[in-house]
Amino acid sequence: MSERPIDLGRALASFDALWSPRIVTRVNDYDIRIAKVHGEHVWHAHDDTDEFFLVLDGELHIGLRGPEGERTVTLPRGSVFTVPRGTEHKPSAPEGASILMVEPSGTLSVGDRHEEVPDRVDATTGRALEV
Ligand code: NI
Repeated sequence: MSERPIDLGRALASFDALWSPRIVTRVNDYDIRIAKVHGEHVWHAHDDTDEFFLVLDGELHIGLRGPEGERTVTLPRGSVFTVPRGTEHKPSAPEGASILMVEPSGTLSVGDRHEEVPDRVDATTGRALEV
């Protein structure tokens, strides 16, 4: 955890990798992570935790699979959304986006259950931010 304030703009400018979350700070047992995203992630589910999203820039879509079928929520810049635990979801950003996520430390970016992970998606519990 940094002892200095962290400028999110600088933090985002410090890496280029897509779908590869960086840990900005921790709050109790939770990570605050940021990521640059473009194109599609994979369908996955976190069995034991909700997952919070805040869109910092661009527009994020999140596909959701529930009892009533499949739907997609659209999050413009400045929007927040929480994916409930156990819910299969697939984030995507056709035009690219920057996002902030809140989830328990150790949470895997592709969840506990997921479809095959392509090279474009980093399966990680969050990488260190170097600013
Ligand atoms: Ni997820």
